[in-house]
Amino acid sequence: MSLYTSFARPLLFALPAEFMHRLAVRGVALGLAPGYPSGTHTRLKTKLWGKEFPNPIGMAAGFDKDCEAPGGLLSMGFGFVEAGTVTPKPQPGNPKPRLFRLAEDHAIINRFGFNSHGHDSFLARLKSWREAGGTGFLGVNVGQNKESTNAIADYRAGVKMFAPWSDYLVVNVSSPNTPGLRDLQSAEKLRALLSAVLEARDEVPGKLASTRCPILVKIAPDLDLNAIQDIAGVIFDLGIDGIIVANTTTDRPKTLKSQNAGETGGLSGAPLFEPSTRLLTNFYLATKGMIPLIGVGGVFTGRDAYEKILAGASLVQIYTSLIYRGPGAAHLIADELDQCLAADGYSSVAEAVGAKNR
Ligand SMILES: Cc1cc2nc3c(=O)[nH]c(=O)nc-3n(C[C@H](O)[C@H](O)[C@H](O)COP(=O)(O)O)c2cc1C
Repeated sequence: MSLYTSFARPLLFALPAEFMHRLAVRGVALGLAPGYPSGTHTRLKTKLWGKEFPNPIGMAAGFDKDCEAPGGLLSMGFGFVEAGTVTPKPQPGNPKPRLFRLAEDHAIINRFGFNSHGHDSFLARLKSWREAGGTGFLGVNVGQNKESTNAIADYRAGVKMFAPWSDYLVVNVSSPNTPGLRDLQSAEKLRALLSAVLEARDEVPGKLASTRCPILVKIAPDLDLNAIQDIAGVIFDLGIDGIIVANTTTDRPKTLKSQNAGETGGLSGAPLFEPSTRLLTNFYLATKGMIPLIGVGGVFTGRDAYEKILAGASLVQIYTSLIYRGPGAAHLIADELDQCLAADGYSSVAEAVGAKNR
């Protein structure tokens, strides 16, 4: 038990979940969160897409949807941060309440539905952060407007706008809260979408990178083996730079105890660890370990992060455990991961990637 879990968390959990989330984002943006170093373990430094990450633990998409707090998050010990999902036009998302804690299950259900301030204000914040000397790894996760009649145009617009300012871009086709979005994961639609997105990316060389801005796809955990093979095939054919496995699930394990378990939306946290790690294994096998994977879903400890890496993840992200373990989560997880790697005789993260599935 830490000070956060015994004292702060019970108080914070007495507040409505979305209000608490807004408070947290504003607090981090204002630099009020405790700071932790991100590059203290040599073993955790890891190279991907030609860049060195100080550690492989990242902030997953959805916490900082409008790029309000990239610097604050990076100073909390994260090796990288993914902001978004951002949509072209501002949109309010679904009616409130739309964020639910499942405390007994160490989980969350959300049905935000891409509430977003839109591209223009996101870009203004991102640029002013960069121009003020903001360094550190920032990925931008792009999506489509709910009312859009041309999804491809929405994603292309996001890629063109943010490629010059991001270290990687994510095509999010896996949120359960935008009707029809997950259909974009079918092989035919995915091929058309990703081809158009790559074309848009190639028209705008990344200013911050000496090479083109890497394009990743974020997929849903609720995919069968045929769909995995199809998606892997498209990703290979087109030369996509990475896959994020996975978004929240619409599945509801029977083991859930919380009274909020029946809420509609995407489930994240501890119950997602096992299915998302199984999916990671399947993607690692389907891509023969040749495409970088980011493992996300239910990572609470360094041991969980280690399991993701052994299954095939080159990087790991967290969201729900930040809420349950507190602002020191990234730092604690990185420390614990370093111990796991050392205990098994690994001198780097890269050596351990996919070790269980090779
Ligand atoms: C409140 C909330 C909002 C989220 N919003 C987004 C989003 O906008 N885009 C996205 O790609 N993923 C979003 N996610 C999914 C997370 O990035 C992550 O994939 C998922 O929560 C599983 O990780 P976790 O178990 O560590 O939370 C959201 C998750 C939560 C809990």
